[in-house]
Amino acid sequence: MTALTLSTAAAPGLRADAIVIGVAKGAKGPVVAPGAEAVDKAYDGKLAGVLETLGASGAEGELTKLPAPAGFKAPLVVAVGLGAQPDDKDAEDGDTGFDAEVLRKAAGVAARALAGARKAAFALPVDSPGAIEAIGEGVLLGAYSFDTYKENGGQAKGARAKNGKAPLAEATLLGGKPRDAAHKGAVARAVAVSEELNRARDLINMPPNDLTPAIFAGIAQAAAKEHGIKVQVLDDKALTKGGYGGILGVGGGSAATPRLVKLSYTHPGAEKHLAFVGKGITYDSGGISLKPAGHNETMKCDMSGAAAVFAAVVSAARLGLEVNVTGWLALAENMPSGSAVRPGDVLRMYSGKTVEVLNTDAEGRLVLADALWAASLEKPDAIVDVATLTGAMMLALGSRTFGVMANDDAFRSAVYEAAEEVGEPAWPMPLPEHLRKGMESSVADIANMGERWGGGLVAGLFLREFVGDGITWAHLDIAGPAFNEGGPFGYTPKGGTGSAVRTLVRLAELTAAGDLG
Ligand code: BES
Ligand code: MN
Ligand code: ZN
Repeated sequence: MTALTLSTAAAPGLRADAIVIGVAKGAKGPVVAPGAEAVDKAYDGKLAGVLETLGASGAEGELTKLPAPAGFKAPLVVAVGLGAQPDDKDAEDGDTGFDAEVLRKAAGVAARALAGARKAAFALPVDSPGAIEAIGEGVLLGAYSFDTYKENGGQAKGARAKNGKAPLAEATLLGGKPRDAAHKGAVARAVAVSEELNRARDLINMPPNDLTPAIFAGIAQAAAKEHGIKVQVLDDKALTKGGYGGILGVGGGSAATPRLVKLSYTHPGAEKHLAFVGKGITYDSGGISLKPAGHNETMKCDMSGAAAVFAAVVSAARLGLEVNVTGWLALAENMPSGSAVRPGDVLRMYSGKTVEVLNTDAEGRLVLADALWAASLEKPDAIVDVATLTGAMMLALGSRTFGVMANDDAFRSAVYEAAEEVGEPAWPMPLPEHLRKGMESSVADIANMGERWGGGLVAGLFLREFVGDGITWAHLDIAGPAFNEGGPFGYTPKGGTGSAVRTLVRLAELTAAGDLG
């Protein structure tokens, strides 16, 4: 990953491949953002005019390259758009008024454009540790690229991959103080969370022939060991012994057997216990209810929920948060075969309830049901599950926003607000009681399908049945934002995005601070 440092050096003398500055959209054209004063001065204070001549407006996502002024050691200036210039009322007490998410996105755009470069200096508006953290995250997340499977891709760090440019090797943030504890802490947090989030992206992008449930479990075991997290892996034998009918049913069609991974991070001073549960379908073919061609090419992303939970638990451990966090990864491959679960089969779930499987493609709720029940037995203060659960949620909210459902209105709001705070688009969704009826089964306690309309909410209602009585629970359906099929934007790459990781980490932080539940 890109190395991230702070520097109080002056821009002109900096040895770097490029200097990144911000340009905002003012009432009368582009305006050079705070942080880039030295660069503007070297252009005789005419940088805004130069940028305007080059066609820059300051719009978000915009990128303009220009030669550095005479006397600068760096050859290139990269100007990134920061959107509308903040009002004076937003910009007070040394606060430049730029939103953290605006800075995060702009830093991401610049970092991506600087692929192939060795070192870049970021002269963006830095007025607080929060700004440093946002810019740091934007750089580290925006510079991400997945080239493990490109010829030459796995060569030495920083070397140029044959089929593309290596990510930016080093970023230094100007205006940050390397000796200031709060500034250093902001960098450390950005590095820890971004590293784990990028690892989640790697797992999502890994092809399903190389990321089976057993391999995913092994990766989780190794990481847990490294970060002092207790780990327990139930393999197919242990799952059979324990009666995990949901996970076994879904995994039964694949030669790659299922796993349930439990990661327990504990802090001696913790007063609260959070459980995160992730859907980890390493490949979703649909099973016997096979998906048609055109609907399965990206289904390696169906373990994004488990990847997010994994990343969040390891992040919590690396940050030493004063809260106990248990992560449950429900890992299985959904494949059709002679041993696969059939439409019409009845599964006896870990909770003891029976489920009539009407559609084997509604498999996520089956593995989650067992993991939710396992999590419930520990009586945590709250459970949050994360899943690429339904195409219906994508239809409702599009490809960048995840849906938040819950059995508690205040908790749903808190989760939604945490997502907002970290820059993850989310939206609260209801669990209408009348939709429960559609899942009534003539042979079992419940069917795994219900009414067609509101499919995302039906899935949420199904999950609710497997949450222990009295436990606060929220469900994040990340089917839309988990995997970016379009081009990269902001700090979001093509492919696996790491959706929900930062929301989960924020929830753990809020819980540790006693500000949640
Ligand atoms: N993994 C899919 C949901 C999905 C779709 C995720 C598109 C990401 C992108 C899930 O297992 C699924 O197949 N859901 C079905 C449920 C239906 C059979 C009730 C769906 O949404 O069509
Ligand atoms: Mn499915
Ligand atoms: Zn699925």
